[in-house]
Amino acid sequence: MAKILVLSGPNLQLLGTREPDIYGRTTLEEIHALVATDAKQGGHSIVARQSNHEGELVDWISGASDEFDGILLNPAALAHTSLAICDSVASISIPTVEVHLTNVFGREEFRRKLVIAASVKGVITGFGPESYRLGLRALLQIIAEAN
Ligand code: DQA
Repeated sequence: MAKILVLSGPNLQLLGTREPDIYGRTTLEEIHALVATDAKQGGHSIVARQSNHEGELVDWISGASDEFDGILLNPAALAHTSLAICDSVASISIPTVEVHLTNVFGREEFRRKLVIAASVKGVITGFGPESYRLGLRALLQIIAEAN
């Protein structure tokens, strides 16, 4: 049984009402429930957290190896800027999969640069809440293959 840390970055607490034309109407709580159900079906579990603060995300990531087998990470806007999170993901022994609800390559130019991506196992982008589910599936497979 794997224990997964699901982390979401700045402004994702607003999902459901935040620019619904772009991000849809599903709330972060509903996404967490979807992922929790998927995990449970496979005998796994998740702990889901959201923060608007880069340092808090760094603290959670760098401390995750003690308690978790993998990290599912939507860094939100920090995906485009945070070398601190990139370093933090690179520093730990457990795998991280990065997800985005929207297709970051089909939006503004500045979203095409993913600075954390160099440290993660892979990136899933553009499938709405399904990105989290696909990311979980990929992460569980990586963990299973490593054991
Ligand atoms: C996002 C994409 C980012 O560019 C943006 O800053 C977000 C959400 C996504 O899930 O599509 O906040 O990570």
